[in-house]
Amino acid sequence: MMNPKIKVLIVDDVAATRENIRKLMEFQPEFEVVGQAGNGEEAIDQAKTLRPDIILMDINMPGMDGIVATERLSVEMPETSIIIMSVQGEQEYLRRAMMAGAKNYLTKPFTGDELATAVKDAYGRERKVRETLRAKGGDREPGRIISVFSGKGGVGKTTIAANIAVALAARPATTVAIVDADIQFGDVALILNVSPRSTIADIVGEKGQLENKVLAAYMTAYNDQLHVLAAPLRPEQAESVTGILVGMVLKQLRSTYDFIIVDTASSFSEVTIAALDASDIILMVVALDLPTVKNTKMALEVMQSLGYKDDNIAVILNRAAPEGGIDAREVEASLKRPFAASIPTDGKTVVSSINKGIPFVVSNSESSVSQRIVALTNIIAPPKAEPNDVAAKSSRRFKLFGR
Ligand SMILES: Nc1ncnc2c1ncn2[C@@H]1O[C@H](COP(=O)(O)OP(=O)(O)O)[C@@H](O)[C@H]1O
Ligand SMILES: [Mg+2]
Repeated sequence: MMNPKIKVLIVDDVAATRENIRKLMEFQPEFEVVGQAGNGEEAIDQAKTLRPDIILMDINMPGMDGIVATERLSVEMPETSIIIMSVQGEQEYLRRAMMAGAKNYLTKPFTGDELATAVKDAYGRERKVRETLRAKGGDREPGRIISVFSGKGGVGKTTIAANIAVALAARPATTVAIVDADIQFGDVALILNVSPRSTIADIVGEKGQLENKVLAAYMTAYNDQLHVLAAPLRPEQAESVTGILVGMVLKQLRSTYDFIIVDTASSFSEVTIAALDASDIILMVVALDLPTVKNTKMALEVMQSLGYKDDNIAVILNRAAPEGGIDAREVEASLKRPFAASIPTDGKTVVSSINKGIPFVVSNSESSVSQRIVALTNIIAPPKAEPNDVAAKSSRRFKLFGR
């Protein structure tokens, strides 16, 4: 059977350029040019009726330019991938276009091969994301929500949340969403090195039911199995994100993803409480310094008063054994619970992973920090046991506290 052709819409204000591109495409039997447009408005109109897979979009056009059109289309038609066409020297525009949601870019003039590669690449990536999501329909257990919280900032919540998410998504046939609920200063997208085209703040304008396909448009793919719901790009957008919205979003994500990892801010805000309320597991990150221990103790008391079950809270020690730190045993005694896991300090690995934009469980999988993260992941979410594997089964769910 023949694959359906990849439908392409060409948008450029210069008719001769459109014609040249159309000719280049004629040499590629797998592509079909379904239409042409001369500016952003026409592009949006045409896209809505023609439903192309790919839009080749010029940046500079009279009327609505390519960046504005890309911004609109990436929200209104998330199934269509946009490839931006620019000339040398439009770097700043190009950057904005990618931020607006373009999937790829071409620098004019380009060859037929460059064009074909860019189109296939953008098309392939988008289709994979869609197939992964579609495969997740049907009967499935609701996903588990795991929140990472701490009584104090800077203890390693985001580091741990991002690496747990990546580790879980490396399991076969497992889909993971990471939600940045540090609404004001969230940096999950930065740590995972993705450029979100939309964020949780954009969902605010969504009317009616938040269905899966609606929500999918706001997620940014880290890879096929891990998608990011980013925090607002500007702090002033934070106000519009309410606890109710976060609660609704998390509930809905359960029906699509196997795991939902939530990174939080270190305060009991309305949004944090909504995230903790929705969680199956709360990872409480603590470090070996007195202010953090004091705040952790207080936070645990607050959680108790909110009615959270002790069994669902796991205390994780991060940056174990720094020089001059207080003794880990004393902290466990003072918190009246053992650490479910302890993650060593490894500035070299952590910093180089951030600079490379690759989480350390991927870039330095052999390092002890990575191995501890994977071990923690296996404790909080044991990999699916084979039906006859009784030993593995009995250790399912929390063996956390019986060290
Ligand atoms: N185990 C670790 N070893 C070394 N540095 C770490 C470790 N965990 C976190 N860090 C560093 O500590 C800082 C704060 O971490 P972050 O995850 O942003 O904390 P939070 O989200 O709680 O504010 C970051 O610079 C991070 O790179
Ligand atoms: Mg953080």
